[in-house]
Amino acid sequence: MPNVAELLRDATAQLAEASPSAQRDAEVLMCHLLGKPRSFLFTWPEHEPAASQVAQFFHWIEQRRDGQPVAYLTGRREFFGHEFLVSSDTLIPRPDTELLVESVLARLPTDQPQRLVDLGTGTGAIAISLALACEQWQVDAVDFQVAVLDLVQRNVSRLGAKNVCILQSNWCDNLSERYDAIVSNPPYIAADDKHLNEGDVRFEPQTALVAGADGLDDIRKITEQSRAHLNVGGLLAFEHGYDQGAAVAEILSRHSFARIETLKDYADHDRVTLGYAD
Ligand SMILES: C[S@@+](CC[C@H](N)C(=O)[O-])C[C@H]1O[C@@H](n2cnc3c(N)ncnc32)[C@H](O)[C@@H]1O
Repeated sequence: MPNVAELLRDATAQLAEASPSAQRDAEVLMCHLLGKPRSFLFTWPEHEPAASQVAQFFHWIEQRRDGQPVAYLTGRREFFGHEFLVSSDTLIPRPDTELLVESVLARLPTDQPQRLVDLGTGTGAIAISLALACEQWQVDAVDFQVAVLDLVQRNVSRLGAKNVCILQSNWCDNLSERYDAIVSNPPYIAADDKHLNEGDVRFEPQTALVAGADGLDDIRKITEQSRAHLNVGGLLAFEHGYDQGAAVAEILSRHSFARIETLKDYADHDRVTLGYAD
């Protein structure tokens, strides 16, 4: 039987044309197959997986060659140091979104009780990361899809986030609380954006991605609803597209939010805009 090093070489070659991260993809899938950390691949390159495992591995490689995101094949993705279960019902958490989590942690008192809501929670990546970082905070995780809420529940249970409450709501429609912060990474891609036909995004649901002709419909809707659900001085923070910073700042300003800031991600793109209900 072929060993780990040979299988990885073969798989990387098979993925070379289809994926810009061919070697990394093959390694992630091999680790998932074996249930081992990445270090195993280099410590035991001569290990020979069973025939059934080799068949499963090349089945995944074929799916990856057809464009399936690695995270949908493994059912997992790391975010903010935690491993989240993912499913094709919602977005795969992105590293860029960690900026939204960090910006909220930097602006709210982490040693005092605070009430937050994450609108469009998906896997629960934002809500659960905030809740795990600050045990005194209570975080509501909202999505409108039942399948997504089941996924959040599984992530809450396996990561042991005791201070997360899961709610089904069309944005703020079913919220009865007032919050110290409303946080959201809503859909923000324009309906005719060509990126929808590229890479992993092709396999993610439109409900998680698309927000009207200019991509801003959901940010407008949430901003409009937010004031009634924020305490005085409460924070509203959005992730948005790299070219939407000025437009989102303008939406917040139009709804009388104060101290508006746009923050840049690691690639130096506008990524998060926030303001306060002073
Ligand atoms: C861009 S994804 C973000 C997922 C997750 N927060 C993250 O950052 O990885 C947007 C999420 O908003 C949810 N969503 C879309 N429209 C919604 C609505 N009207 N009310 C509540 N949630 C909605 C989608 O189901 C999806 O899970």
